[in-house]
Amino acid sequence: MKTILPIASGKGGVGKTMCIANLGIALAQAGKTCILVDLDLGSSNLHTCLGIKNRHPGIGNYIYKQESSLEALVLPTEVPQLYFIPGDSLLPGTANLPYFTKKKLIRELDQLVADFILIDLGAGSSYNVIDFFLISNTGLIVTTPETTAILSSYSFLKSAVYRLLYRSFPSKSREREIIQDFVSTPIEGSSLSFQQLVAKLSEHSSDSGLKAEEQLQSFFPRIILNMGNSSQDFSVAAKLRDISRKNLAIPMEFIGFLPHDPAVSRSIFTRVPYILDKPNSPFAQGMRLLTQKLTAGTFPSTPQLFEDDEDIQELQQELKQE
Ligand SMILES: Nc1ncnc2c1ncn2[C@@H]1O[C@H](COP(=O)(O)OP(=O)(O)O)[C@@H](O)[C@H]1O
Ligand SMILES: [Mg+2]
Repeated sequence: MKTILPIASGKGGVGKTMCIANLGIALAQAGKTCILVDLDLGSSNLHTCLGIKNRHPGIGNYIYKQESSLEALVLPTEVPQLYFIPGDSLLPGTANLPYFTKKKLIRELDQLVADFILIDLGAGSSYNVIDFFLISNTGLIVTTPETTAILSSYSFLKSAVYRLLYRSFPSKSREREIIQDFVSTPIEGSSLSFQQLVAKLSEHSSDSGLKAEEQLQSFFPRIILNMGNSSQDFSVAAKLRDISRKNLAIPMEFIGFLPHDPAVSRSIFTRVPYILDKPNSPFAQGMRLLTQKLTAGTFPSTPQLFEDDEDIQELQQELKQE
């Protein structure tokens, strides 16, 4: 079964691309065929994190129709079973991607043959980034424990939930109006829960309320905490998870914890991906744990809510045992 994982972050510089490159390697080493797709158009640098020179046609050529199929852009890497589709650093980002190009791109991404397709999305909450994130209901978000990163991860999730619900109803529908009114009327000092929005939609029509509820319950994004320093980071992580569950009314889980390690940045200069160079480092161990979770299906394919701190405690325990 193929797993498409769009990977986003609220803000840049949290190590998303570095994580994707190393996660791809870890998945390939675990025997999974993996294609990494650089969709961070405008600031593509996945090739750098993989130690590959940027001299091949990429998504930019596809968008400007110099290349007609996405498949033709797939490059092998030095790691067996790991493939790569380059981005384009000359393009002004995905923000202005025409609708039909976006549709075609999504369709062709879905047709690629591999066990895992990891998509590096640009930072931030532009519509196009969110639409790519919503290709899957279990996309990943990379954050650091810094307050600014946590807050922007939350904003990203909120925008994604909004768009998910909005897209669930036809254009010009009363439901869309209700959704729009709800998010554009901030109530000072109170944290409005999307559960209240579901109630509002139910008042209009019980079917619509049910539909919205189902959408929320089947949206199951998972978070990777990168550049962690201490066990305190786990409580920061728990806050983000809890507030997302409460206010956004979605199941959400932490799936990876990767420590801060200055040598990770240095791997860019040596052009040797970090987990190949230091397979026994805590960063590489964290990556393997993440890989196990993604491949072993220990996470539910049908979303479910975890009780209390189950996911975080489990991660803490596993890291201790390593
Ligand atoms: N776990 C880590 N420890 C230390 N530095 C890291 C770690 N992860 C990423 N970095 C560094 O952070 C910087 C930003 O990483 P990058 O992957 O380009 O971020 P993003 O894609 O989120 O913008 C890079 O210099 C990278 O080497
Ligand atoms: Mg990046």
